Amino acid sequence: HQTAVIVVAAGSGTRLGYGIPKALVPLAGRSLLEHALDRIQLAGCAAQVIAVLPEDEAELAAIAANHPLRPHWVSGGATRNDSVRAGLAALEPGTERVLIHDAARALTPPEVFRQVVSSLLAGAQAVIPVVPVVDTIKQVATDPGRQPHVTGTPARDLLRAVQTPQGFHAPTLLAAHQQATDWDRAKAEAITDDAMLMEILGERVDTVPGAAAALKITTKPDLVLAESMLPAHPP
Ligand code: CTP
Ligand code: MG
Repeated sequence: HQTAVIVVAAGSGTRLGYGIPKALVPLAGRSLLEHALDRIQLAGCAAQVIAVLPEDEAELAAIAANHPLRPHWVSGGATRNDSVRAGLAALEPGTERVLIHDAARALTPPEVFRQVVSSLLAGAQAVIPVVPVVDTIKQVATDPGRQPHVTGTPARDLLRAVQTPQGFHAPTLLAAHQQATDWDRAKAEAITDDAMLMEILGERVDTVPGAAAALKITTKPDLVLAESMLPAHPP
């Protein structure tokens, strides 16, 4: 009967290029972290919210401390996965469901959070928001010293781009992370999201519809696009 949301916000925002952590970058006068927390608050589905922040980042810590959600905050690690683990370590004992969310998807509509939680309440072990893919995607082979060449084209109508929040039955996700602790570096680095960890361990991962507004703000044009969406997606 208890849902926690972990917002990972400990990245440096190198590709955005503001010279400050991405979660601190303003969008219409509010930091990306605040935008993300606003929408989690509106979704109204979290008993506990954990913000994972860059180490020694007083400004973001102050933003977390002053937000009406009063998130608990912890320091993140060198990789996103390290930051997720830091967040998981702060979960209250007995947490039943956990959502892992990127602060970089600052405008994710509250409805997406609610749909992920509904799906977990209906019995899913893992659930991710997805959107159709617009580009044709090719698989390539990269042989040393040669130009990569195409080896196949997966059917586009079966492909989806993945967003966050990704939701999990908390004990299952904790067990999956536990199992992955002694994996070698190459295997650990191949895990690019939490759902993938569940897939590898043979757990079923369900999907719910994502949203255009849940785009990951990665580069400057993404920030411009997000700003243009704000009137239609107020907090
Ligand atoms: N993240 C994190 N800890 C890290 C790396 C990333 O908590 N060590 C978080 C980011 O804050 C972001 C999300 O994971 O909310 C997705 O990462 P990404 O978009 O790559 O953000 P950054 O790593 O900050 O950006 P860049 O890769 O351009 O430096
Ligand atoms: Mg990154």
